[in-house]
Amino acid sequence: MLAVDEVNYDLTEQADYVERSGDERPLVNLSSGVNFQQPAWEFVDFVLGAARDPLLWHDYDGPNGHVLGRAAVAAYETRRSAGLTTIGPENVIVTAGASAGIALAARVLAARVRPGLQRPHAVLPAPTFPLVGAALCDAGFTVSQVVSCLPERWLPTVEELTASAPPQTTVIYVNTFNNPTGERYSEAELRQLAVWARDRSVVILHDVVSSDLAPEGHLPHLPSIAAKEGYADGVLTVGSLSKSRALPGFRIAWLIGDAQTMQAAAAANELIAPSSPGLASPALLLDRLAMLEAERQYGSARDGAEQVVDLIEPHFATFPGLRELTSRLIDEAHTSGAMAGLLAWRQDLRQLLAANEAILRTRFGDLTGWVPTWRGDFNTFIHLPALDGRDYLQTTHTLFRRFGLQTLPAPAFGHTAQWWRQRGYFTRLSFALPPAQWVRGLERLADACAALGRPTVGVGHPTATAAPTNGRG
Ligand SMILES: Cc1ncc(COP(=O)(O)O)c(C=O)c1O
Repeated sequence: MLAVDEVNYDLTEQADYVERSGDERPLVNLSSGVNFQQPAWEFVDFVLGAARDPLLWHDYDGPNGHVLGRAAVAAYETRRSAGLTTIGPENVIVTAGASAGIALAARVLAARVRPGLQRPHAVLPAPTFPLVGAALCDAGFTVSQVVSCLPERWLPTVEELTASAPPQTTVIYVNTFNNPTGERYSEAELRQLAVWARDRSVVILHDVVSSDLAPEGHLPHLPSIAAKEGYADGVLTVGSLSKSRALPGFRIAWLIGDAQTMQAAAAANELIAPSSPGLASPALLLDRLAMLEAERQYGSARDGAEQVVDLIEPHFATFPGLRELTSRLIDEAHTSGAMAGLLAWRQDLRQLLAANEAILRTRFGDLTGWVPTWRGDFNTFIHLPALDGRDYLQTTHTLFRRFGLQTLPAPAFGHTAQWWRQRGYFTRLSFALPPAQWVRGLERLADACAALGRPTVGVGHPTATAAPTNGRG
């Protein structure tokens, strides 16, 4: 186990570092995976103001979450698929973060063991978001981790991924963009995956937590692709506002799937979350409408709002005042400047990520070996040739204690430290930092490489299997 967090996030260690280094040299977290920008305050103000309404806090919503938030997610998803899928509140659970959505999905999917098999099996790319392997293992899955054998990519091709899937496979996990590498599948690859999964009744668990910042336009939409291939019910989607809106503390996320699976997931959620947070509904309403406004080819925020109202219509009689609250919030989203503020903030964030990626490439290019092509994600996964051969855990602790850098190295994303050490020294970097902090962090990383380092060796990409992942991600 790579116990990075025992130092990087330990309060005593942090206090000790601060005492030794003073105000001049604050800690820099280069690998947070979170978004260190301030959130869009218009968005936050709208959400907090709206959450004062008793309809959003005076009762338990039930383990599926409040109908308003579920309808907002459903309306976005239906429009985003241009009608290829029809999603309603019954297809959505509002969860306390995507992590909770993944854990629920893992539990529900684990219960579907094929006849004659003792344990369900899941296939994951490696490196990837560590909690998924851990959640699947915890739920009873055996997990295969697959790395590409091709040069200059970590994300296995769909052929590689599926060729590594044993016949007992019931779940494949796909992350757009893949954390930590920032890679993603093309539309054609996702189609190939959907067809393969359909023919074997394998569920695709699709994590879209950091999908919506892509600067190059249009990301393929897996549920639409699967629907075209007659496999709409074979995809479970998990998404969240934690990273994309710099609000990990709000714990607002969603799980989308067929109604039967969502019912089972809600039953599992009952023990943990008999209600969604009051903040979730206005946040999801504004966010999902804003995304329609941003993407426009699927209709405007106004079109989305009409769909939200249609979806809640059957429930207005159950909750007196909900109709008025919904129309008021839709109105305020436009008139208060909250939607415009969120859209401008998102645009700024995209520019910040691009600027920081350019800084890494142009000013610190000689620090890194091969880096996956950036496509708009928060994260990248870099090779630091100067640190090749060094012990991962010890080096990460040294980066913290001596250089004031919090980093999350490769073994936190799957496979063992030994496996990684044979390939070189890799770590995740996260672009969502104010540029001055980003540069300060990279300068310290360069100092560390100079002080600890030695000349370079190349990278290998063998496939491998087994071993659950661990660590923050
Ligand atoms: C791919 C991926 N999925 C899920 C999560 C968890 O998000 P949340 O904070 O909503 O639980 C993260 C957070 O780092 C992530 O990178």
